[in-house]
Amino acid sequence: MHPTRGSSFRIIFFFLIFHFFLLATHGFHLLDPLTPIELNQIQTIVKNSHQDVNFHYVGLDDPNKSNVLSWLSQNQPNNFPDHRVAFVIVRINCQSHEIMVDLSTNSILSDKVYEGNGYLMLNNEEQKAANDLLLKYAPFMALIAKRGLNLSEVVFDTLTIGWYGEKNTKRVVAVICYHSDGTINFYMRPIEGVMATIDLDEMKIIGYRDPLVVPIPKADGTDYRESRQDPPLDTHI
Ligand SMILES: *[C@@H]1O[C@H](CO)[C@@H](O)[C@H](O)[C@H]1NC(C)=O
Ligand SMILES: *[C@@H]1O[C@H](CO)[C@@H](O)[C@H](O)[C@H]1NC(C)=O
Repeated sequence: MHPTRGSSFRIIFFFLIFHFFLLATHGFHLLDPLTPIELNQIQTIVKNSHQDVNFHYVGLDDPNKSNVLSWLSQNQPNNFPDHRVAFVIVRINCQSHEIMVDLSTNSILSDKVYEGNGYLMLNNEEQKAANDLLLKYAPFMALIAKRGLNLSEVVFDTLTIGWYGEKNTKRVVAVICYHSDGTINFYMRPIEGVMATIDLDEMKIIGYRDPLVVPIPKADGTDYRESRQDPPLDTHI
């Protein structure tokens, strides 16, 4: 997934630079997003109170309107707010926690286990860990060899299995694969039929199937990037 990764890095980099530019020129506002320093602070606070933490969401807990108005009336807009709270969602020991972190006092304001339906979002680390399981899974390696595919060109897609109203569903993903060899548009080249289901809490393969060998479409003509030809439309009407 190099193309995707490259462009998202560029976007994050742009926003970081943009953010620091704003800080340099305009100072802080109460509703500014969490800074890199604050994100590190949150990570330390949460990790000090829990082991084996998997972060899934970290964001500013927006102060309510009356707080914002009173801050604006009492402060120069350039002053860093003296009270900031972050809302954090983490997975710890097969449980989803919603944690409020007070950045001004370096403490956890509240920490509750979410008992409702549905699960938190997938994060990159667990998707990579799930994909890496397949790279060590003998039946999958045998399949790649049998089809004469290049393992370095295999791209994984990690999808949740969904929630269909059952009382207890495990936190499971279905991993499907593509062979990008010769194209950037790997979605056009599925390794049809292969699917592994992986329990993310246990981090192990709980299901695997490759029932049939379907030919992989050829890579020619699958590139969707901007053409180097002249523009097809004549705009001089
Ligand atoms: C706004 O938040 C403060 C605490 O930060 C609370 O005391 C106050 O009741 C809240 N106001 C509203 C309208 O929710
Ligand atoms: C497999 O793919 C890698 C990465 O694209 C490439 O460097 C290598 O030459 C390929 N191997 C074969 C046997 O084609």
